[in-house]
Amino acid sequence: MGIGNRKGQDDMNQNIDFGKINLNEQPPLSEPERQYYFIAKCRQWTDHFEQENARRPRACVFNMGCQMNARDSEKLRGVLETAGYELTEDENADFVIYNTCTVRENANQKVYGHLGLVSNYKKKNPNMKVALCGCMMQEAEEVARIQKSYRFVNLVFGTHNIFKFAELLWTALDSDRMIVDVWKDTDRIVEDLPAQRTYSFKSGVNIMFGCNNFCSYCIVPYVRGRERSRRPEDILCEIKRLVADGVKEVMLLGQNVNSYGKNLDEPITFAQLLRRVEQIEGLERVRFMTSHPKDLSDELIAVMKDSKKICRHLHLPLQSGSTEILKKMNRRYTKEQYLALVDRLRAEMPDLSITTDIIVGFPGETEEDFQETMDVVRKARYDSAFTFIYSKRTGTPAAAMENQVPDDVVKDRFNRLLALVQEIAQEMSKRVEGQTLPVLVESVNEQDDSLVTGRLSNNLLVHFPGGSELIGTIVDVYLKECKGFYYIGEKSET
Ligand code: SAH
Ligand code: SF4
Ligand code: F3S
Repeated sequence: MGIGNRKGQDDMNQNIDFGKINLNEQPPLSEPERQYYFIAKCRQWTDHFEQENARRPRACVFNMGCQMNARDSEKLRGVLETAGYELTEDENADFVIYNTCTVRENANQKVYGHLGLVSNYKKKNPNMKVALCGCMMQEAEEVARIQKSYRFVNLVFGTHNIFKFAELLWTALDSDRMIVDVWKDTDRIVEDLPAQRTYSFKSGVNIMFGCNNFCSYCIVPYVRGRERSRRPEDILCEIKRLVADGVKEVMLLGQNVNSYGKNLDEPITFAQLLRRVEQIEGLERVRFMTSHPKDLSDELIAVMKDSKKICRHLHLPLQSGSTEILKKMNRRYTKEQYLALVDRLRAEMPDLSITTDIIVGFPGETEEDFQETMDVVRKARYDSAFTFIYSKRTGTPAAAMENQVPDDVVKDRFNRLLALVQEIAQEMSKRVEGQTLPVLVESVNEQDDSLVTGRLSNNLLVHFPGGSELIGTIVDVYLKECKGFYYIGEKSET
């Protein structure tokens, strides 16, 4: 089936023989066995499809959100692949699913754009099934809008019941009605479902779900529910399986990894988890995101500093440099605390790359507040920064705040911030010019196929002469020239 050679299939705990599942029996009630049953049922359906159409049905999983959504999309692909679909990136498929994001208004608009497009495909292929899932589907108004104006959609589900995807897929295949199944919240974590990795040599690994921070502008806690940590044994077991399957680098994922483990029966800190993860033999690199500055411990700094495997990159969202605005954002740190943390990090790890997220135009932000943000950017000297225009999210406390900042003022501040961020990022990127450093090769260069593209531990991209046989390997590269935000290098002969 259509697995490109860049991809990898995560092994589940046991090797399931889906052909042996007795479909004449009632579906089991326990998870994940129940989902295995429905995967087998869908498999029967896709085999039948192949007999009738002389080809496998094609499925497209379109990801629209953050790394966490991207990992969820890999799980959706894993189920579809195991159920006998051929995966494609073309939305004109037999089954297309949009894994949505709602963190900013433009993320929502994008979904409706795609639905317009796909409705035309569906007119030509009436048997096509269209599904929507992810964060935006946790919002009742959006689901109501789809039920009213996008009747051709076959299946809608949310973030909390994604583990049920095989069952929902089967229900949608078996029905002409629009199936809507969105849960308000959950305390469950279902392990051991298949996943289809985008890259064979690196993978995201969820260590926790949800968020309890309720930053006043942010919708994530409402659409992803309360914070839940996976058990360390389950995480370690998943990473060991990934490594056995060729993975060299993992990215530990959570909205606030620094609060990992607090609510487990046997509490454990994120730093302790990292120590256990890096002991896994064969694993070469460990990344993680996102770190909330309020919870970043000295223990974590010590573990990072000691480690050969933990990458020299920390994503440390600032959001605003104004203590006043930070308070209104409910971030629970001050400008001074944030800068002191950056100083500590830089003192302990001078080669650390620090990146950030910044929001411009939060309600009530004055020019003085904005200048505080510019001041932090100058002092923290980010290696790169994602800058966002504040987007009002219905239901969050900030949406009800007065003094929303006029669009033209926000735009002007945004442009000034972006210019400063880029100027500093270019200077910071240049830091390692002339050094020879290990690069994990990710792909053949898209523009020039005599080059390959890989990543430094600090997350910068490097292009250098080489062939596809290098993909997934770590090679020492001489960093010849910094071109703004990336490097041109040469494979080191030693
Ligand atoms: N959990 C992560 C961030 C998740 S959302 C953290 O706490 O850092 C990713 C980024 O989107 C945030 O860091 C923030 O900068 C941005 N963001 C979130 N809500 C936003 C909003 N309403 N408007 C604009 N940007 C927003
Ligand atoms: Fe949103 Fe704040 Fe949670 Fe990050 S920590 S997901 S910004 S509420
Ligand atoms: Fe991620 Fe967007 Fe959801 S940022 S958690 S996909 S709202």
